[in-house]
Amino acid sequence: MEVIIRPTEEAAAKLTAKIIADAINDKPEFKLGLATGATMEAVYAELSALNKANKVDFSQVRTWNLDEYVGLAPEHDQSYRYYMNKNLFNNVNIDKRNTHLPDGLAINEELEAAVYDESIDEAGGIDLWLVGIGKSGHIGFNDPGTSLASRTHVAYLTNTTYEQNKIYFNPPESMPRRAFTAGVGTVLDAKKVVQLITGERKADIAAAAIEGPITSMISSTALQMHPDTVVILDEAAAAKLKLRDFYNEVFMNDPKWEAYR
Ligand code: F6R
Repeated sequence: MEVIIRPTEEAAAKLTAKIIADAINDKPEFKLGLATGATMEAVYAELSALNKANKVDFSQVRTWNLDEYVGLAPEHDQSYRYYMNKNLFNNVNIDKRNTHLPDGLAINEELEAAVYDESIDEAGGIDLWLVGIGKSGHIGFNDPGTSLASRTHVAYLTNTTYEQNKIYFNPPESMPRRAFTAGVGTVLDAKKVVQLITGERKADIAAAAIEGPITSMISSTALQMHPDTVVILDEAAAAKLKLRDFYNEVFMNDPKWEAYR
């Protein structure tokens, strides 16, 4: 696991977007895993700007998102399909037929989940999965107690996640308590994982996720077992990391990061 700390949220998001854009430029038929949430908005704004400036081409990119609320139609303004269209897909030259999210209205939930994993496998796997972290330590909606070997499934969301996300709903109580989520195992299968963590409110969970023991109580800790994960944080989110100085030394001196400093 590599850990990079940038001074601000903006710098952390820009670095994240550059890593993704460079990877797409190296392999135009890129299979990209995506996340939603407040943290990712700055990444999608930067990717949209890079696309507009002809610095990254999404025409052959295929995407799979981590999650979608059960019961929300794509047009619902809190559905993750709506979020993705608004923040990224409408702003770049991607073919929307190449963008995948679980269908929140699927009648057969088990089948929908199985087909979602199959579609990733049939495409040859995800090249890079962009993930955030929830206050519960989740990646996707893999809240505490979820198997670290889980595949895509419908999850019942914990109170921590309900409190984190219900503020976006009107009224807040209308937030669905269940959601489709790619499993922890689904994410671990990606060739590369890039995790973005910003803000003071994530400092405690970031320290537990990056430097604490691997446990299904914090699904993000499973990324410690992934052979190619980069975690990017801003100073505020990195405040409680024990090895901060070491991570900074590596980033400033390792030649592989030269183009990103
Ligand atoms: C969203 C997702 C979640 C979020 C996490 C952080 O697709 O999978 O794991 O990444 O809940 O959300 P924000 O960025 O809103 O704090």
